[in-house]
Amino acid sequence: MKKRVAILISGGGSNMEALVQDMERDHPAEPVLVLANIPDAGGLAKAKARGIPTACIDHRAFRGDRTAFEAALNQALEAAAPDIICLAGFMRILAPEFIARWQGKMLNIHPSILPLFRGLHTHQRALDAGMAVHGCTVHEVTGELDGGPILGQAVIPVHEGDTADDLAARLLPLEHKLYPVVLRRFAVGNRAKMLLG
Ligand code: GAR
Repeated sequence: MKKRVAILISGGGSNMEALVQDMERDHPAEPVLVLANIPDAGGLAKAKARGIPTACIDHRAFRGDRTAFEAALNQALEAAAPDIICLAGFMRILAPEFIARWQGKMLNIHPSILPLFRGLHTHQRALDAGMAVHGCTVHEVTGELDGGPILGQAVIPVHEGDTADDLAARLLPLEHKLYPVVLRRFAVGNRAKMLLG
């Protein structure tokens, strides 16, 4: 039986597409839902075009009531009965209660070498810190923001004169390689951490 995967997005969904593309090949898992918290998230159209069920729970409709937003999110997820949830550019902070429901089943990709640069603006912060390397991390989601066991990382060099946009543009293709590899491993129970490349 293939593992059922739900993917949560907020934007363009390029990581979601990379995951889905890989699952279209011989794979231990299959995408059962792509869910966004923003109605015009570009990734929704991409998922629909690939024939994947989509849903949108617009967080703005809940006017700051995170508990109600997460209850709606949970309802949509429960209906899809995922074995694994992949956060892929999902830009809402989730409450510990929500995470506890799915702990051990939820992955996230973060654009830094964790535990460095948790949170936002990771590329600029890597530059500001004078890093010679930068990278991305796929990790299990726990109640700690961008914490949780590391499953895989990929690194790039920082070149003289790089801007945050340069780093983001060079890193994204590696994110698209790393996340599918980690998901494949995770779907068969392999949680050993790996370095890509
Ligand atoms: C990716 O770079 C991902 O690592 C980042 O958002 C981007 C989403 O792009 N995630 C975070 O910053 C999470 N804190 P995508 O929608 O094209 O996959």
